[in-house]
Amino acid sequence: MTGVRWEGAQTTGWDADHDGVEDARPTTALPASSFTLRPPVDQDLILVGATGDLARRKLIPAIYDLFLDGLMPNNGRIIGYAREETDDETFRLRATNSIRSGSRRMLFEEAWKELGPRFVYVARNRGGIGLAAKYATQPQRLIYLAIPPAAVPAVLDEIRENDLIEGSRIVLEKPFGFDLASAQALDDQLRQHFSEDQIFRIDHYLGKETVQNIAVFRFGNALWERVWSRDAIDHIQITVAESIGAGGRAAFYDDVGALRDIVQNHALQLLALLAMEPPARFTAAALRDESSRVLHALRPIRPEDAVFGQYTAGNIDGTRARGYLEETGVPETSRTETYVAIRAEIDNWRWAGVPFFIRTGKRLPSRVTEVLVSFREPPVALWESAGLEAQERRSNHLVIRIQPDEGISLMFNAKVPGPEIATRPVQMRFRYGESFMTEPAEAYERLLYDAMDGDPMLFLRQDNVLRSWEVLQPLLDDPPPVHPYAAGTWGPPAADELIGDRTWHTH
Ligand SMILES: NC(=O)c1ccc[n+]([C@@H]2O[C@H](COP(=O)([O-])OP(=O)(O)OC[C@H]3O[C@@H](n4cnc5c(N)ncnc54)[C@H](OP(=O)(O)O)[C@@H]3O)[C@@H](O)[C@H]2O)c1
Repeated sequence: MTGVRWEGAQTTGWDADHDGVEDARPTTALPASSFTLRPPVDQDLILVGATGDLARRKLIPAIYDLFLDGLMPNNGRIIGYAREETDDETFRLRATNSIRSGSRRMLFEEAWKELGPRFVYVARNRGGIGLAAKYATQPQRLIYLAIPPAAVPAVLDEIRENDLIEGSRIVLEKPFGFDLASAQALDDQLRQHFSEDQIFRIDHYLGKETVQNIAVFRFGNALWERVWSRDAIDHIQITVAESIGAGGRAAFYDDVGALRDIVQNHALQLLALLAMEPPARFTAAALRDESSRVLHALRPIRPEDAVFGQYTAGNIDGTRARGYLEETGVPETSRTETYVAIRAEIDNWRWAGVPFFIRTGKRLPSRVTEVLVSFREPPVALWESAGLEAQERRSNHLVIRIQPDEGISLMFNAKVPGPEIATRPVQMRFRYGESFMTEPAEAYERLLYDAMDGDPMLFLRQDNVLRSWEVLQPLLDDPPPVHPYAAGTWGPPAADELIGDRTWHTH
């Protein structure tokens, strides 16, 4: 069967009226509106870390959703691999549970009858990855390392010892190292075994529709490029805010912190997409070249251009929220930052003098990832904007919402109706849900498909990863003091000083 798509299974989980009717049936005809993607070539998928959180919550549901869209290879197994002793049947049963809780669509019995038998499981002690490879049915394979970083070197050695390098592509999850030196060491090890075109480093933000849309927004419209520079832009803010605390992951998080967890990867990737020059062509090489060029023009961040914070107990919706040091597994002397604000400068002609402010943290008042592009004020103020706070009076700004409530809005000043001239900001708005009648798909679907298809566009190239560590290394060598902030607030007051006479965008 080629390009089988499951009719009746196309509704997204958001609007679907899940009445429990399982009426999907396979069809070879794609609706006219569909994209022209084809299934990747036949290959097996070896899922190392198949019993873990990432596999359960994201990867297995993504495999199922791709299958429903006719975008899994027509032939090939999904070979789960981990240390736990379990069997095919249990693995399949757990997979159905993952799909039920994590897929955009319901679990269709007919579809699972076809996909389920392709799931097999190999426990590490029963013969290692060599045995997993014996279960393979195809000459090509994707090896997805959904395992903790400490386990990566040994698994890479196993892959090499079992002669699995040829015919393999390998997917790696962040963290790519812990600092510049360890990132370099990991890279050296990878490169001993694999060539760069076999390595797919995931930053799942790049798989998000809203993040890819930054490129389309900038380079698919002539309008924005005219104003996308120091001539018209005053500054740019990138916010990655979480409302939850470190919670159950606190012991793990304490070794990582916000700088490594969010800034080194997601925030700098967003910055690169916002600041890059238009690529000559829309190819992986051209796009990744431009992204790396921006990171090379980014000035290494000095400790005085960063504010670190750690949440203390606070009050959220009338309930006491515990402080970071009270979280299970966090040593009481921990200096790990749960909040980072940075002022970054890009030394090139387009951006010289335009600060990029990055802000991320846990236990902030809302969960939001967004970009604010703040344009310059009109040179002369002709009218009063009475009764408004400075921030509201601010002239044009563009907000790109990455998640949730995905969309883009543009604020501009308009005349308030009435006999006198007073101005007030109003909003033009695009929302995914309204314009496309759908919500953006999961990033992991796109990334898994691209990795199987061998398209590296949305994956991080080695030079890009190393440069992003290099830019942050001064903060790792000489971390700024960690300021307390109460859970449920927008971070320490020092962050307001960092942004100076501008203001952080509030939500
Ligand atoms: N979870 C997420 O949402 C998320 C998001 C972004 C990135 N990541 C990254 O993805 C990776 C996996 O994260 P996770 O949250 O899924 O971790 P996890 O829940 O701890 O799962 C780790 C998996 O790896 C297996 N494993 C550990 N050591 C192994 C070894 N030596 N050989 C084979 N399998 C081994 C574990 O099973 P056994 O103990 O049975 O071996 C388990 O299946 C990490 O690098 C993490 O940073 C995770």
